[in-house]
Amino acid sequence: MPFPIQEGDVLEFMRELLAVDAGREESNFDSVELLLELVHQHGLYPHILTIDCGVNEPEFEADGRTLLQFGANNYLSLSEHPLVKAAAMRAVEQFGVGPGGSRLMSGNVAIVEEAERRISRLTGMEDCLTFPTGYMANVTVFQTVMNPFVGRLPYRTQDGSIFMDEYVHGSISDGCRLSGARVIRFKHDNLDDLKAKLDENEWASNKLIVTEGVYCLEGEIIDIPSYIALAREYGAKLMVDDAHAVGVIGPRGGGSPDYHDCADGIDILMGCMDKAMGGTGGYLCGSKTLVDFLRIAASSSVLSSALPCSMAGAMIAAIDLIEGAHELRAGLAEKSEYLRSGLQRQGLTILGYDRIPSVPLLVGDEEAGMAFAHLLLERGIFCPVMRWPAVPIGKARLRLSLMARHDYTQIDRLIEACGEVGRELGVALG
Ligand SMILES: Cc1ncc(COP(=O)(O)O)c(C=O)c1O
Repeated sequence: MPFPIQEGDVLEFMRELLAVDAGREESNFDSVELLLELVHQHGLYPHILTIDCGVNEPEFEADGRTLLQFGANNYLSLSEHPLVKAAAMRAVEQFGVGPGGSRLMSGNVAIVEEAERRISRLTGMEDCLTFPTGYMANVTVFQTVMNPFVGRLPYRTQDGSIFMDEYVHGSISDGCRLSGARVIRFKHDNLDDLKAKLDENEWASNKLIVTEGVYCLEGEIIDIPSYIALAREYGAKLMVDDAHAVGVIGPRGGGSPDYHDCADGIDILMGCMDKAMGGTGGYLCGSKTLVDFLRIAASSSVLSSALPCSMAGAMIAAIDLIEGAHELRAGLAEKSEYLRSGLQRQGLTILGYDRIPSVPLLVGDEEAGMAFAHLLLERGIFCPVMRWPAVPIGKARLRLSLMARHDYTQIDRLIEACGEVGRELGVALG
């Protein structure tokens, strides 16, 4: 099967998209039809698999084939765990399938409140509010906390400033934009740059720093205590998106606050239930006052349906397993080290140094990135390529996700296939 790029300079086209997106250039795309045609012509339209069964399994069926799965975030393999599935089914029997509507309208279901108490206990935070997705938590939180009622009074909107790591997830940038607050980007995990930006904006009265606990596309665990110290020095609040940390790091799997023993220094902890927790949903944790305020002011909660009860039940069972999953976490860290070093021995470039289950293999330009994923698929291995706007242009990468149920034979197959493809495309140095 030939790789589907036909003609045209992909990089140039992407730079044009970037310039339009950043508002530096007027859009030449007169219609959505034209834009779509160009996206297809440059081979940039993603091929999304139709999965017949086993989406979260190490091997799954898609497009009539059996493939090895290295794209799913089901790090601890809890999605298909019998106890988690049974808990979801019990909750369906007891509460039905739908949440009944927004909780202000139809009430708080006991099992959802229990899941929130369990998330608070897992993370070590005081209180918690759940949402049906992590995206919903991130799009609502900035609008709510940068809201005029919360900042120091008398409040002027322009006094509110969010200091955002340049590599945060798109749901955070969407949320920041929606809040209408000033957004100041600092260089990725660069405390000197953050400090300089805080100095330049010392006059701002309502400052919020936002970063992630684990950057899965960079292979990094972030030193959150340094951010806490800086936030305290400048009288700023700190928010940590722990989507890829919860379940994976910390002695009881509680993510960044547990790993660094720093729950009391984090003002807002956001997390996702669709990664190591194996389900779906998002949460915001913080002080009781903050969460009480979110309950009445966060539009994603007030104006939208709550987390389904089946998911709440499943997540309570997942947390029971996470708290005792010491060996599973240690085994996953070992597999991550094995994959990293195996790929490096093949001459490939792996980003970051930390033993976390997402291993980013840097390919470089977008065409090579897409070709890499395509050639892996031809060898029966699925892993999507991450490219702009998820990562900077010219730094496309494969984010290889490990799950507890991957065995070493499957990981060896991945290492060998990546080595072969890397040499074929000229991106393996060794
Ligand atoms: C760091 C981060 N935050 C937030 C989200 C959004 O979470 P969800 O998929 O639950 O909407 C994601 C999703 O991948 C993520 O990686």
